[in-house]
Amino acid sequence: MTLNILVTGGAGFIGSHTCVALVEAGFTPLVVDNLCNADADALVRAAEVTRSRQPLVFWRGDVRDGALLDRIFATYPVHAVVHFAGLKSVGESVAQPIGYYDCNVQGSLSLVSAMQRAGVHRLIFSSSATVYGQPERSPVCETAALQPCSPYGQSKLFVERLLTDLAHADARWRIASLRYFNPAGAHPSGLLGERTSGTPNNLVPVLCKVASSASEKLTVHGGDYPTPDGTCVRDYVHVMDVAEGHIAALRHLEAGAGASTFNLGVGRGTSVLELVRAFASACGMEVRHAIGPRRAGDAAAYWADVERMRTATGWIARRTIADICGDAWRWQQSQQPALAAAA
Ligand code: NAD
Ligand code: WQD
Repeated sequence: MTLNILVTGGAGFIGSHTCVALVEAGFTPLVVDNLCNADADALVRAAEVTRSRQPLVFWRGDVRDGALLDRIFATYPVHAVVHFAGLKSVGESVAQPIGYYDCNVQGSLSLVSAMQRAGVHRLIFSSSATVYGQPERSPVCETAALQPCSPYGQSKLFVERLLTDLAHADARWRIASLRYFNPAGAHPSGLLGERTSGTPNNLVPVLCKVASSASEKLTVHGGDYPTPDGTCVRDYVHVMDVAEGHIAALRHLEAGAGASTFNLGVGRGTSVLELVRAFASACGMEVRHAIGPRRAGDAAAYWADVERMRTATGWIARRTIADICGDAWRWQQSQQPALAAAA
């Protein structure tokens, strides 16, 4: 008998990779996703990666639908929930705060209410380093000031606080909020990766787009930051390392009750230009780029202090920037026939 793990948003970028890691770790993922930013085909490919004979169990639906969640919990014994479902664009959240609070905060409230009704009290929540806002120093510890600069970041912080209050109120809850830094890359098989609808904003998807088109050029947002090469520094962490971090966190929940927060990063910073060079080397061609103006709201540099996660769970990120670039490029290339057909 394997343990069932309900994965909300499991068809998305990090969720689909985590489904693979869950199967590989001997768990059974059950996915609920409204497919607002995903394709159910990702779950077919996730099953293919794990060579499962069975398709992944999937409900198309919204976490704000409490009746649906009640049906899911009534149908399957669920050991724990990994909650990815949510909206994640900082810029969009500034333009559409109601939609972001509704999906991210109301969605989480609906989920924990249904868990409470069903007597399921183990939860891993997808938080974000964005809760730190513009950190004053790096590496950034979990105890650093929490000053999110967008409705998206606020929504993550609200949910973290809700979960802390829940664990204080009821000792049955075991909760880990994982603050991801910059998840990037793809599964090494080339079967799973980040789906970008429209124009990508995040650096690795932009690099993939630029490298696969003769006409595109990367605009480096600012070359005059107080960093070694003048470009911003971030902590890029491979999505499979992030996925495996959830397995480590799930095991950690068995250690005891309460709500904890953990940074999920590599613990080292990489500049935009360093990433551009690594990407060029991974795809074997020059990546056309030019330094442009700074992007509003960007912090110069931050990376994670990963000691708390390592000490509590033993997890550390194992993959390199070269792995991130190579795997993202393989995924991009596997998308080309589909993109060409859609054009
Ligand atoms: P994603 O958009 O690829 O995945 C989110 C999934 O949730 C999608 O499949 C979407 O269809 C689904 N979803 C959204 N709202 C839903 C709802 N109300 N009900 C059911 N399903 C819903 O995003 P991702 O990159 O995989 O991120 C997963 C989580 O991690 C998000 O909560 C995000 O905020 C958080 N996070 C992501 C990053 C990142 O850089 N990717 C960084 C920090 C935190
Ligand atoms: C990385 C660096 C850009 C595109 C965001 C969210 C954060 C989290 C992760 C969800 C920056 C530079 C980018 C381009 C560039 N997500 N860049 N040219 O902003 O660190 O973090 O994703 O929780 O909340 O804010 O990631 O990938 O957008 O940018 O020069 O075309 O790449 O300026 O320095 P960011 P990013």
